[in-house]
Amino acid sequence: MEKIILTGDRPTGRLHVGHYVGSLKERVRLQNSGLYDKIYIMIADAQALTDNAEHPEKVRNNIMQVALDYLACGIDPEKSTIFIQSTVPELTELTFYYMNLVTVARVQRNPTVKAEIQMRNFAQSIPVGFFCYPISQAADITAFRATTVPVGEDQAPMIEQCKEIVKKFNAVYGETLTDPEMVLPGNAACLRLPGIDGKAKMSKSLGNCIYLSDTEEDIKKKIMSMFTDPTHLRREDPGHTEGNPVFIYLDAFCRDEHFTEFLPEYKNLDELKEHYRRGGLGDVTVKKFLNSVIQSELRPIRERRQMWEGRLPEVYEILRAGSERARCAAAETLRDVRRAMKIDYFEDGNLLK
Ligand code: TRP
Repeated sequence: MEKIILTGDRPTGRLHVGHYVGSLKERVRLQNSGLYDKIYIMIADAQALTDNAEHPEKVRNNIMQVALDYLACGIDPEKSTIFIQSTVPELTELTFYYMNLVTVARVQRNPTVKAEIQMRNFAQSIPVGFFCYPISQAADITAFRATTVPVGEDQAPMIEQCKEIVKKFNAVYGETLTDPEMVLPGNAACLRLPGIDGKAKMSKSLGNCIYLSDTEEDIKKKIMSMFTDPTHLRREDPGHTEGNPVFIYLDAFCRDEHFTEFLPEYKNLDELKEHYRRGGLGDVTVKKFLNSVIQSELRPIRERRQMWEGRLPEVYEILRAGSERARCAAAETLRDVRRAMKIDYFEDGNLLK
C-alpha cells in the first residue's frame, strides 16, 4: 500500500511557533524521510469559512501568508503538493455522503467541536456548516487515501471521528476507504506550546504568539517579556521549571549543541534547570539563552520566507498546479465511492442493468 500524508491548516492568520513545533517541523521531517509516496498539504479555506462566513476576505488574505509559511519551513513543492481546499469540489460531495453516516449526537460529543463552540460563544447559533466540519475533515483525509495525518494534539478527536466514518463506510458499502493514522510530535513540550503570557494556548486572538514571520527584534522583545515563575522574585530564590513557559519553550526548542554555542557554562538543559531550581540563576540569563536558541532556529525560516516573498508569482503557480493535482487525486477516490454506493449510474450504462 502506498504511504500517503495529508494534513493542513485553516488560513485565518500567519503561522506561529506553536504550529511550527506542534506540526510543521514534523511534516518537514516526514517529507524529507523519503518514506512517503505522496504528500498533500492543504490550505483549509473552506473549513476556515465555516466560522468566518461573513469575513471571506480574512480567509483570502491569509492564503498566501500560509503558503509562504509552509515554504519558509521547508515544505518542498517538488516533494509535497500544496493546494487550496475549495478548489477541490470533490471534497464537498464526499462530505455530503459521509454526513449520512454520522449522528448529530456523535458530532456534539466531539471534544474539539465542543471546545470551539464554547470559545466562539456559538451556544444556540452554531452554523450548520461549522457543526459539520469534522465530517468535511474526514472527506479531506479519505479523498487522498491518506495513511498518515501529522497534526497537533488538538486534532486527535477529528482523526478519531474520521476513522469511525471510514469503518462505517467500508462496513456499509464494502472496503473502499483507507483508515488513517495520526502522527503527533514525539516531544511532549511540542504538543501544546503555551503563549508567551503563560496561557495554555498560543492564539492570535490572545495576542500571545511568536510568528514565523516576526522580525529578530520582535522576537527578542517578546521573549524578554515572557512570563516565568511568579515565585522567583530575586535571582537567589529557588525557582520552578515545571509549568514555567520559558523552560517549556527550551524543552521544545533547545538541543545540547545550543549550550556549546550560546551558554557553555552548562552542558545541557538538565543542568540549567537544576541551577534554576536551586536558586542563583536569573530569568534574564535564561531568557537571553532562549532568545539565542529561537533566533538560530527561526533565522533560516525567515530568510527563506523573504526569498519566497520576492517570488510571489512562483508561489501562485505552486498553489495553482498543486490544486490541479489534488483535484485529480480526489476525483479518483470519488469515482470509487460512487461505485461502492452504486450511484455511478452513467458508468457503463449501469442504470440499465
Ligand atoms: N482542522 C485543521 C486546523 O484547524 C485543518 C484541517 C482541515 C486538517 N482538514 C484537515 C488537518 C485534514 C488535518 C487533516 O488547522
